[in-house]
Amino acid sequence: MNEKMWGGRFSESGGRQAEKFTASIGFDRRLWRQDVAGSMAHARMLGKVGVLDDAEVRQLVDGLNRVAAELEAGTFPFRVELEDIHLNIERRLTEIVGPVGGKLHTARSRNDQVALDMHLYVKETESELIEGVRGLQQALRDQAKSALDARIIMPGFTHLQHAQPVPLALHWMAYWHMLERDVTRLAEARARVDRSPLGAAALAGSSFPLEPAMVAKDLGLAGVYANSMDAVSDRDFVLDLLAAGAILMVHLSRLGEELVLWSSREFAFVEIDDAFATGSSIMPQKKNPDVAELVRGKAGRVFGDLMTLLSVLKGLPLAYHSDMQEDKEACFDAVDTLVACLDAMTGMVATLKPRADRMRAALVGDWSGTTDLADALAKRGMPFREAHGVAGSLVRVCGERDPAALTDAELRAISPELRREDLAVLDPEGAVAARGLFDRVAEDLG
Ligand code: ARG
Repeated sequence: MNEKMWGGRFSESGGRQAEKFTASIGFDRRLWRQDVAGSMAHARMLGKVGVLDDAEVRQLVDGLNRVAAELEAGTFPFRVELEDIHLNIERRLTEIVGPVGGKLHTARSRNDQVALDMHLYVKETESELIEGVRGLQQALRDQAKSALDARIIMPGFTHLQHAQPVPLALHWMAYWHMLERDVTRLAEARARVDRSPLGAAALAGSSFPLEPAMVAKDLGLAGVYANSMDAVSDRDFVLDLLAAGAILMVHLSRLGEELVLWSSREFAFVEIDDAFATGSSIMPQKKNPDVAELVRGKAGRVFGDLMTLLSVLKGLPLAYHSDMQEDKEACFDAVDTLVACLDAMTGMVATLKPRADRMRAALVGDWSGTTDLADALAKRGMPFREAHGVAGSLVRVCGERDPAALTDAELRAISPELRREDLAVLDPEGAVAARGLFDRVAEDLG
């Protein structure tokens, strides 16, 4: 064994500096559970293929359990001179069980070891994130259900201009569907990460009679890598997580922005619960939508994390390089951000109070049922372009007046095809009914 592995990896002069610079223990200690589980599976496999005897396997597994107990209890003696979590755990194991500890690393390299740890971590994390997204979806669905029951309607926007009236429930469910795609992306990523790289060793496999599939099965992974060089140099599975996470943050930031706008005095479409807003330190009347703003802002971090790892991996020749150690902080930062944002958003959405009165009032006189009037004329055979023109003239002729106040002569002057009963769809409730939107969203809600 290389003595340098056990501390003092660098020559004395400048050694401390390089040691600190290359160490990953400050952040990869987070992988200790995966590292212990991977080592136990490796030891058991070495036993099954006859590389270790039963007593040795038992000693290693018992020792690893004791190491895990120290890690769990917070009494584990972390040593920065041991660089990373793998060397820290192996060294402590050897202190506990004696020289047999040195047999654990038979037919294994930290290259396949760290890859395995990351596979296990990313897979578990994807399951947690899916749970988190499901929670937010439930909060949105609950809001949609009560908005549907109360038949709340609001202006639907394009270009941030009133476009057509829509049920509030349709708006909430649009976010639900965005998140549903996030769930499928995370689930697809989880299916791809579900394999073990162990057995690749440094890059070229091993002359020991290893059974990589045994390790995979032991750890609940669905398969193994077919190519040992791919196994140690693949970090696509981290990119998959970060890419899915970046798109998820796009969605959360859009919802965040919506809530910032909607909670403003100009809109006042929703009231954010006090638990998710703060006051200003100088302006006593203010209530700031901090949580929504921060979710919007934190999207940038996750995009940055994805860009970090894309840049780290770009142009790297095969196989393992220390550059790849840079995958971890980007990955962990993105995961922490995603978990925190999902959590905050779920709480905020669950406690939001929609202001049905304000939404309805915003529709008064906005003419957003005009498209539905043009549709009504077109349904009677008028070419749509012409119907569009007729509906437009009606808006101009009315000006500030209620269309119901138009005389028969005025109606005829706009178009002989225009009937008084056509005007019903100009009423926002009529416009929503014409498009059957309450039924559609009810169907969607199931
Ligand atoms: N700390 C390293 C990482 O995070 C572990 C693998 C190191 N392998 C090596 N040959 N230096 O990637």
